[in-house]
Amino acid sequence: MSEYSSKNPYLGKMTEKRIITHPDSTKETRHISFDLGKSGMKYKVGDALGIIPQNPPELVSDLLGLLNFNGDEEVETHLGETTIQEALLNHYEVHRLCKKFIQGLEMKFSSSAPKVAVRLVGRSRSHVQTGDSTFDWDWSGQDDDFPEGFTPVGSATDPALNLWESLVNDSEVMEDYIWSRDYIDLLSDMPNLSFSPQEFVSNLDRLKPRLYSIASSPDVHPGQVELTVGIVRYNHHGRDRGGLCTIYMADLAELGEQTIPMFMSPTRSFVLPKNDDTDIIMVGPGTGIAPFRAFLEQREFDKAKGRNWFFFGERTSTHEYLYEDELNEWVENGLLTKLDLAWSRMADVPKTYVQDLMAQNGEEIWSWIDGGAYFYVCGDKNRMAKDVHNTLIKIVTDYGGYSSDDAKDFVEKRMMKEEKRYLRDVY
Ligand SMILES: Cc1cc2nc3c(=O)[nH]c(=O)nc-3n(C[C@H](O)[C@H](O)[C@H](O)COP(=O)(O)OP(=O)(O)OC[C@H]3O[C@@H](n4cnc5c(N)ncnc54)[C@H](O)[C@@H]3O)c2cc1C
Ligand SMILES: NC(=O)c1ccc[n+]([C@@H]2O[C@H](COP(=O)([O-])OP(=O)(O)OC[C@H]3O[C@@H](n4cnc5c(N)ncnc54)[C@H](OP(=O)(O)O)[C@@H]3O)[C@@H](O)[C@H]2O)c1
Repeated sequence: MSEYSSKNPYLGKMTEKRIITHPDSTKETRHISFDLGKSGMKYKVGDALGIIPQNPPELVSDLLGLLNFNGDEEVETHLGETTIQEALLNHYEVHRLCKKFIQGLEMKFSSSAPKVAVRLVGRSRSHVQTGDSTFDWDWSGQDDDFPEGFTPVGSATDPALNLWESLVNDSEVMEDYIWSRDYIDLLSDMPNLSFSPQEFVSNLDRLKPRLYSIASSPDVHPGQVELTVGIVRYNHHGRDRGGLCTIYMADLAELGEQTIPMFMSPTRSFVLPKNDDTDIIMVGPGTGIAPFRAFLEQREFDKAKGRNWFFFGERTSTHEYLYEDELNEWVENGLLTKLDLAWSRMADVPKTYVQDLMAQNGEEIWSWIDGGAYFYVCGDKNRMAKDVHNTLIKIVTDYGGYSSDDAKDFVEKRMMKEEKRYLRDVY
């Protein structure tokens, strides 16, 4: 057992982050490799690698500026006492807003409730110099009775209060708002809010590690671990942004520097059959290909005699055919008994998904399953895995001679629970 874990990660060295989609592709998928050095970290195919990302330093520095913090202020976090700069870089997620933070602003808005005196907790940022911008003001009750440069937080005419109320009173408005915004957007929509450093961090989401299915066999790549990562990039409200960990790996992590916090996340269930003679069917569109590249490398290394059938799908064969050369070589050398490719966005070709190809091959899939084959699925949990699941049940109904209820039982109870040969790694 390695001494490293999510709480005590190994600092690994990224050695490669090659883009494996076409330069004109609408997607950016990368093959990312790490050197495990002298860590002693071991893995098997099917395992995942945990990465602990860092928030973009530029984003953190812009946020500190807007909050009027110099970065050295001490705050208490779930990981102990540290500076606000370190907390915003490494302890909390600041690349997207979280609901809890917005709900927690109640204190800010409700503090203005009294009719005779208003506690002012903000000032327009264009006037802010240094020092404490929070103080009490005896309010006459007139809308314009405020010190120059200040507007009341929470007055009926305050657009920030109106926005905040619409967010906390309607979950759809809240979801929509936080989907495309971060704390910089919030502070620009609610410019009169001010926070102490401790107040600001107290309702932020803790920074969570991300898991990635390992795309390599440790026997074929000793001392190394490889991933297939879909980079999440988008532009909202005039700024480029993206996923915390994928942007960290693609844009921030330096190649060759031993600085990436990582740990192994072993699987107990998503494993190759113990008996090498067993056939396997793998369904892995998009980045779902990752563990199956590892499986195929391992089956080749082990000289496993069982047959291998892979269903892969992506947008186009020209721009998103991940690991095309390796897959073709495995078809040519016979490791891949069958390779079925579903392209969903080819011009002049009907949209095809992996489950469409499964349905077309239903009789043969049933004969493999009836003969004891394992059935694996990896990739999108919300849509693809559900559709593949239903297609599998339909195949068992159509070709296995089961009623649809019995086919469901066969797939969900027998294959999945009892025989543990229908295995999923979905996210
Ligand atoms: C067991 C397991 C294995 C996995 N294996 C892999 C793998 O092999 N390869 C892989 O690439 N991923 C894999 N993942 C997913 C991975 O862990 C991360 O969730 C993924 O890389 C995104 O992380 P992120 O930090 O970059 O994005 P986050 O910062 O977590 O953001 C992702 C969020 O951004 C949202 N989003 C996407 N587009 C937009 C947009 N236009 N506007 C606003 N929001 C948007 C998404 O809905 C999503 O909720 C796996 C997950 C699990 C649990
Ligand atoms: N949890 C997270 O934070 C997180 C982050 C990133 C990604 N993900 C998930 O990981 C998945 C993998 O992303 P990816 O970019 O590698 O690939 P992907 O989006 O799954 O796309 C791969 C292929 O699957 C197709 N597809 C879409 N819907 C399908 C369905 N219902 N059944 C079968 N195939 C379907 C796509 O077609 P079209 O696109 O042409 O429809 C494309 O051809 C994403 O779908 C996403 O759900 C999760």
